[in-house]
Amino acid sequence: MNIYLKEDDMTDIDKLDEYNAEYTSVYPDFIPSITKENYKKELDHVKKVREGIDNDGIKEIYYWAIEGNKIVGHASIRLNPETNLSTLKYVGHIMYGVVPSKRGKGYGSLICHLLLEKLDILGYSNAIITCSEDNIGSIKVIKNNSGKLIETAEPDGKNTTKKTNRYIVDIKESLKHFENIHNSITKNK
Ligand SMILES: CC(C)(COP(=O)(O)OP(=O)(O)OC[C@H]1O[C@@H](n2cnc3c(N)ncnc32)[C@H](O)[C@@H]1OP(=O)(O)O)[C@@H](O)C(=O)NCCC(=O)NCCS
Repeated sequence: MNIYLKEDDMTDIDKLDEYNAEYTSVYPDFIPSITKENYKKELDHVKKVREGIDNDGIKEIYYWAIEGNKIVGHASIRLNPETNLSTLKYVGHIMYGVVPSKRGKGYGSLICHLLLEKLDILGYSNAIITCSEDNIGSIKVIKNNSGKLIETAEPDGKNTTKKTNRYIVDIKESLKHFENIHNSITKNK
């Protein structure tokens, strides 16, 4: 598994059709939010969000997870999730998703690790990661990255209708321990 995270820009436009087609084939109701047609407009949005504009003041950097010539996931880091008190309990520093065909193979755990590496480089010592209480895959991804449960927040009916688990990750400790997990993930595939 040789994945890297690439900041969103126009250069992955040729991989989008395959990415969208995969989601549409698995989830017939899926409506692609990024297409070749709207990619330029989307890129403007990506630039704005990076500055916290149109994103509740939260500065967010979007990435594609790339393996070979394929987009295998999407991800982001949020630099200041604490800035918005109304989303504080539901929005952490990290977001990720893996294309359906690659799930359950360690990609999600590795993408989360790569995002933590980015936060480490930016000087963060801790990261908050949230997920719905019933999202078993994401809970395991967070645990594989040494996340420790802080609380389970009640839904507010606005940001979410589900209970939300909030985890804290000691980034240095997580990066140190992940190597073993990563090795076993790679070995088993
Ligand atoms: C959540 C998600 C990112 C997990 O990605 P993934 O590539 O399957 O993650 P991994 O392969 O690293 O799996 C981590 C662990 O969870 C397990 N797992 C993954 N999906 C699972 C599921 N649906 N049910 C039970 N276990 C699951 C894996 O077997 C693995 O277990 P292990 O650590 O004991 O070996 C992926 O399912 C996804 O994109 N979901 C939709 C978007 C989403 O929910 N994002 C997270 C928002 S908080």
